[in-house]
Amino acid sequence: MISKEIIEDIKFRMPIEDVVSTYVRLRRGGSTLKGLCPFHSEKTPSFTVFPSTQNFYCFGCGASGDVISFIMKEENLEYPDAIRFLAAKCGVTVPDDDRPSSPDVVTRKRILEINKCAAKYFWDCLNDNELGRPGREYLRDRQLSSSTVRHFGIGYSPNSFSSLHVHLNKSGFSDREIVAANLGTISSKNGKVYDFFRGRVMFPIIDVSGNVVAFGGRVIDGSEPKYLNSSDTPAFKKSRHLFALNFARQHCQEQLILCEGYMDVISLHAAGFENAVATLGTAITPEHARIFKKYSPKCIISYDADQAGQRAAERAFQLLGDAGVDARLLKVYDAKDPDEFIKKHGAAAFRKLLDDSKPRFEFKIDTVKAKYNLNDPDDVNRAINELCAFVATVYSPVQRELYVDRIAKEFNVKKNNVLTEVESIAKRHARENKKNEASNLIMKTSGVGDRVNPDYARMPKYAKLEETVLGLMLFHNEYLETALKEGLLTEKHFQTGFNRRLFVFMKEEQERDGFEFGLLNASFSSEEISRVSYMMLQRQRLADNSESVFRQSVASLLEEYEKGVTAKEGSLEALIDSCETRKTKILRSQKGTRYERK
Ligand code: GTP
Ligand code: MN
Repeated sequence: MISKEIIEDIKFRMPIEDVVSTYVRLRRGGSTLKGLCPFHSEKTPSFTVFPSTQNFYCFGCGASGDVISFIMKEENLEYPDAIRFLAAKCGVTVPDDDRPSSPDVVTRKRILEINKCAAKYFWDCLNDNELGRPGREYLRDRQLSSSTVRHFGIGYSPNSFSSLHVHLNKSGFSDREIVAANLGTISSKNGKVYDFFRGRVMFPIIDVSGNVVAFGGRVIDGSEPKYLNSSDTPAFKKSRHLFALNFARQHCQEQLILCEGYMDVISLHAAGFENAVATLGTAITPEHARIFKKYSPKCIISYDADQAGQRAAERAFQLLGDAGVDARLLKVYDAKDPDEFIKKHGAAAFRKLLDDSKPRFEFKIDTVKAKYNLNDPDDVNRAINELCAFVATVYSPVQRELYVDRIAKEFNVKKNNVLTEVESIAKRHARENKKNEASNLIMKTSGVGDRVNPDYARMPKYAKLEETVLGLMLFHNEYLETALKEGLLTEKHFQTGFNRRLFVFMKEEQERDGFEFGLLNASFSSEEISRVSYMMLQRQRLADNSESVFRQSVASLLEEYEKGVTAKEGSLEALIDSCETRKTKILRSQKGTRYERK
């Protein structure tokens, strides 16, 4: 655990407005600063920084938190690494501490150690004369040279339920650690641990610091599933790791190549395209897209030729575009994927594909044209409409104009007509967006579809009271201190799950070392932090947040709480009473409906 003092010190030296403005252009408006949100694409600024509470909140996507949350999101860092990142910038030293916070938690450090040990073992197995023969034969069939195999550290997991497990135990790793690293699974039959990867060619996933963070394993016969990938661990998140980025980062000044599979990447590297990477058994995520942006201005999407690959390309275009990467697409021919293409046509042909790769709009024109019968005027009209709908979502007016031109030329129609169509679609979008934004906000405040606090919908009035009290304690930490010292509030006063968890967390931190907002980042998801910020924000909008307001709010909460308790403990009569009122209410509403229908 990093102490509250250190977090406070860092936050004092790194005001959120200074840190954020190195990433986002902020404009001051009154007591807040606004800019375009770095976490979703938008045209009008709804990303807001509040210097008074040192928080940020995006009214468009709900992203929010403090300076530590911001760095976690922006730099793709885990909580302790985000703190170290900020500490390094302001010269605060953070003591090294890899002690697990509880004895049940396997640390990232331990997982990296166990992975390294396993990678070495898989490598030794592949090179074992007897044991590794099936793996070596498979790799030879796929035309991988021994230097490529060595370069990627490819190994082999023997077809056994216990060999890795025994080896890891001997090397000092416990069963708990083996399971936490996803290298072993607990048998539901006898509770024993058995090896997760068996009889597979093993691809270690190595992060940019050179750590083995996970594995992908491919079968060597035709069995299913073809690939097994590690699930997420404290050292690995598949939504933010890219295969071979450890190599590609040295070769990406100009562009990166995005593939679907391990084997595509390996073939490309072997053929001299060392800027190729792949996602790991998952479609590209916004987090991936931001990593692309960080490493390279341009990305060539190089997916499989089948329908699934082309649909996935649409999504990649969208996410990479949102992240500000200049994305292009290449299409292999006479081959199902880049791996097969290179083997068939060679590196020079692939180089040509790269050079001929098309930007999104050209790809869009191709797909739309393929979809419609261009001899039918109605179909041509539909095709144009579909393209116009796309252009209407483009932000840059210059780019819009170029696209309008392009459509007019492609279909031989008047530019002005295309423009009118685009503008009318854009206007409709704008109207719909406004409506959605408003209904999102209503949803958020009313608790409908509430994933963070599902209990909200069940008891909205009570939950609101809880949030008022929590918001005040978040805003003024001294109220939390008062409430605990005077014993005003305890856990039982928080009846909705999330609010109770938040209160317990604040209470425990307060009693240990003092509560501070930044500590939430270690234990709450970003969605949950958004909710917490929102509670604070609600208070910030009000003029009076004095201690007397706090005491009144606590009093209202306690009063509601007591009412609930008496109702529960109340007599049979009270119970029947409440059923009766419910019944009359229902009857009344039914009558109403019947009446209206007439
Ligand atoms: P090869 O058949 O060895 O050439 O595989 P590939 O790398 O070309 O993979 P493919 O195009 O079939 O799939 C792309 C990627 O999706 C793979 O590299 C894996 O990461 C993932 N993948 C494929 N099949 C499976 C599967 O059965 N399970 C899981 N979890 N991931 C898979
Ligand atoms: Mn393939």
